[in-house]
Amino acid sequence: MSLLPPLAADPEAPRQRRARLAQTLREAGGGVAVLPTAPQRVRNRDTHHPYRPDSHFHYLTGFDEPDAWLVLDSTGRSTLLCLPRDPEREIWDGHRLGPEAAAAALGVEAALSVEDLDQHMPNLLSGHPAVWYPFGVHEGLATRIERWLDVVRARERQGASCPTQCRDLSVLLDEMRLIKDAHELQLMRRAGTISALAHVRVMERCGQWAREGRLEPCREYHLEAELLHEFRRQGAVGPAYPSIVAAGANACVLHHPAGEAALKPGELCLVDAGCEYRGYAGDITRTFPISGRFSAAQRELYEIVLAAQTAAIAALRPGARLRDAHEAALRVLCQGMLDTGLLDRSRHGDVDEVIGTAAYRPFYMHGTSHWLGRDVHDVGSYVQEDEPPIEQPDGMGGRVLRKPSRILQPGMVATVEPGLYVRPAPGVPERYWHLGIRIEDDALITPAGCELLTRDAPVQPDEIEALMAGAA
Ligand code: GLY
Ligand code: MN
Ligand code: MN
Repeated sequence: MSLLPPLAADPEAPRQRRARLAQTLREAGGGVAVLPTAPQRVRNRDTHHPYRPDSHFHYLTGFDEPDAWLVLDSTGRSTLLCLPRDPEREIWDGHRLGPEAAAAALGVEAALSVEDLDQHMPNLLSGHPAVWYPFGVHEGLATRIERWLDVVRARERQGASCPTQCRDLSVLLDEMRLIKDAHELQLMRRAGTISALAHVRVMERCGQWAREGRLEPCREYHLEAELLHEFRRQGAVGPAYPSIVAAGANACVLHHPAGEAALKPGELCLVDAGCEYRGYAGDITRTFPISGRFSAAQRELYEIVLAAQTAAIAALRPGARLRDAHEAALRVLCQGMLDTGLLDRSRHGDVDEVIGTAAYRPFYMHGTSHWLGRDVHDVGSYVQEDEPPIEQPDGMGGRVLRKPSRILQPGMVATVEPGLYVRPAPGVPERYWHLGIRIEDDALITPAGCELLTRDAPVQPDEIEALMAGAA
């Protein structure tokens, strides 16, 4: 497989996002936003987990060093606080940008040493009507801000003016991040492509091992190794979430991490994995026959899940609601459950009844879509906040009062991931026992409908068989 050239960074993109956030702050009554990046986490003793910056912070700065803060006010003035240069530490941890170079490199108006954070912060907060920060994300942040505000209040007789409100910055940033800008779309397309190439590699390798009679020692973790190999060789930092590689009955465990289960001919393997590329996630699921050929029962259920996904994808377009995709998929899945006898028609009636009573839940117990972006389960409200609540199914057989689902707009990215999971149970046809099938792609809402970012990995059963046979 050929190597993709690295994408260029775009230092203008964070600057444009900061300008948009300043405008949003003005529209919301003004104030100053305070945003720390993520802390470094100790794994044990003096060894750390791999560092990943906070998603909001990186979105607004493109800066990936730890111990950094962004302060941005509604006039559009940005101040970055970052670690000072330190030749001794840089021998161990690598180059630091340092405040002297940060302003020019990142396009912020000022850059200061984070070592003087407590000294600078009261000055940066003074004179604004409100302080905005992400509520409930950074442990201890509210207390620190309170302390800085105490200092501002103590200076009021010298002319300082203390903000009188604390407001949740995530409310603004979550909505901004829900609509991806052009630079983000470039990165998300790449995350989707690399993730898809990794799935292709997994299916090709598994098919090759099956053809050559070499499946015998192979286990789930061997397929995980193929995923990781492709992610890294294509420039991704690694997986965007723990890779799910589930052979046989393990596929009925929705988040089964790649483990030691053997790859057995005759069984299916479900792989739910995506890479993180420059801070953006791919999220793909493919389910394929370990031998390279679907059995009749496997193909029957696979075709139902694929038809459900096709119906959901057709529902994704501007003006529709995200939940329309779920409802479209659910109808196809429920019809399939009745047609195959997973649900007994004489007991459960028709599709409407199956949906009304949630009789489908033993076989389909998760949602069909979530937002995707920097975080695999990305930010953004799932409801239309400006509409009143309406009564709707709660998915458990009851009804609930909830705001209607979010209306789709171009630039939103959501997954489409229906599935069927069959655990042994009385009355459930044995030929389907232990089959777990999910098919997941990433869809960008476009003015005309949607664009799938992940279809470099085949999804049609014949195409999967051809790929595994070495013919693709
Ligand atoms: N990979 C987790 C999910 O599909 O939501
Ligand atoms: Mn997903
Ligand atoms: Mn997934």
